[in-house]
Amino acid sequence: MDGGSIVRVFDTTLRDGEQAARINLNTGEKVQIARHLERLRVDVIEAGFPAASPGDFDAVRQVAAEVRTPVIAGLARTTEPDITAAGEALRGAARPRIHTFIATSAIHMEYKLKMNPKEVLREVESAVRLARGITDDVEFSAEDASRSDIGFLVEVYSLAADCGAMTLNIPDTVGYAMPNEFGEFCGNIIKKVARDDVIWSVHCHNDLGLSVANTLAAVKSGARQVECTINGLGERAGNASMEEIVMSLRTRSDHFGADTRIDTTRFYSVSRLVSNLTGVMVQPNKAVVGVNAFAHEAGIHQHGMLCNRATYEIMTPESVGSPGTDLHLGKHSGRHAFGERIEQLGYQLTVEQLAEAFEYFKTLCDKKKEVSDGDIEAFLLDRIIHATPERQYELRDYAVTVGSGGKPTASITLSHKDQELTEAAVGNGPVDASYKAILKILSFKPELTEFRIRATSEQADAQGEAHVILRYKDIRAQGRGASTDIIEATIRAYLEAVNRLYTTAAAREVTI
Ligand code: KIV
Ligand code: ZN
Repeated sequence: MDGGSIVRVFDTTLRDGEQAARINLNTGEKVQIARHLERLRVDVIEAGFPAASPGDFDAVRQVAAEVRTPVIAGLARTTEPDITAAGEALRGAARPRIHTFIATSAIHMEYKLKMNPKEVLREVESAVRLARGITDDVEFSAEDASRSDIGFLVEVYSLAADCGAMTLNIPDTVGYAMPNEFGEFCGNIIKKVARDDVIWSVHCHNDLGLSVANTLAAVKSGARQVECTINGLGERAGNASMEEIVMSLRTRSDHFGADTRIDTTRFYSVSRLVSNLTGVMVQPNKAVVGVNAFAHEAGIHQHGMLCNRATYEIMTPESVGSPGTDLHLGKHSGRHAFGERIEQLGYQLTVEQLAEAFEYFKTLCDKKKEVSDGDIEAFLLDRIIHATPERQYELRDYAVTVGSGGKPTASITLSHKDQELTEAAVGNGPVDASYKAILKILSFKPELTEFRIRATSEQADAQGEAHVILRYKDIRAQGRGASTDIIEATIRAYLEAVNRLYTTAAAREVTI
């Protein structure tokens, strides 16, 4: 394939994806995802919006320090403090990119920016020039481009290119475009701006379920960078899903005459990793990475598959790394097999973390005959990766009584700053009683906004996994806990969320 037909993949899971309601990743989790994106061979990772919060700044800095092959981008409005913050956060990056944006549609300029088109043009010029003073790699986005006047857009993009932006991005910010129309729109802009020294990019949202179709239509018209997220995560209905775009280009290269550098065999594991870390489940029938994406139920289909898989399969599960079923390890599995499985599941652990995880795996093998991928992921997230570095409260002991007679009661002992604190409470159920007992111990009262429990595999001896979201003031934190005892899992999840509330509150200088 010639160089011109390579489509660059710009992943924004850590920026636009993380902006989605209820998602709150800490820096360690963002680095885990970024490392996997690097192995997936994405061209650009947008690691965050440094001016948005100290947490975002820190995450961009950390990703830039640890992930060296792809370009690392930081988002910035056109203001001087935003661009300086992005430059500062990216200072240690091997290949830094500042991505600056301003809205260009009449409605955004009038009501949000309160600027006229001339003022917007001045912003574009000063922002791109300032960013170019910091790094050679500058991307410019015209927010809400798909609802902007095309004549004005041509002016804006031409100016951005004259000032040194090398990537020009056309966002369908509100997911309003239709594929044919958007393809034509992008083609017209590309033709009118007429610069062959820039890469044209698109960034489509999924409000009408058309983000992937719109992205592909733009590729057909000459876009050579696609902005997307794993599992289609993102604001509102999400961004275009990377796995769907890339597998469309790969499966229908005859149609597009273009492809990406992505190692598609990593899609399944990266999808699980992102889903596990964000707590956002992947729908079973999701294209490419859903658990049913390669399941053939109908007899006629199964018969066809037995004769020739291509009858009903346009891509193989192997090509996206889908194992078909969960693999299992047991007490005879050694450290090497365990380490390899963890790698295949998409986690990169330090030597110490791996040793700790293996210890726990052995304990689990004494309780369960077979340890599934789901079990491994659950305890990695609970005990190894999710663990907040500084833990305010740690579970020491718990006792819960339930029965058909009286009300469930729970007695909980937590450690907190060298003290052991015990409280008991009665509740409507064992979880309610446990959480009430914990609340008596805590010095503040977070609100439980989400609670989910599930089994980590389909076996009767599966671990229970709990996922909770707590809110205190305007801070949200998620927690996950796993154990062969479901009550312990719910308590661990709650405490993890409490500890994360502390960390986030400290970063934002909020007193708890
Ligand atoms: O949706 C959008 O317009 C964006 C821009 C910042 C690129 O996310
Ligand atoms: Zn967006």
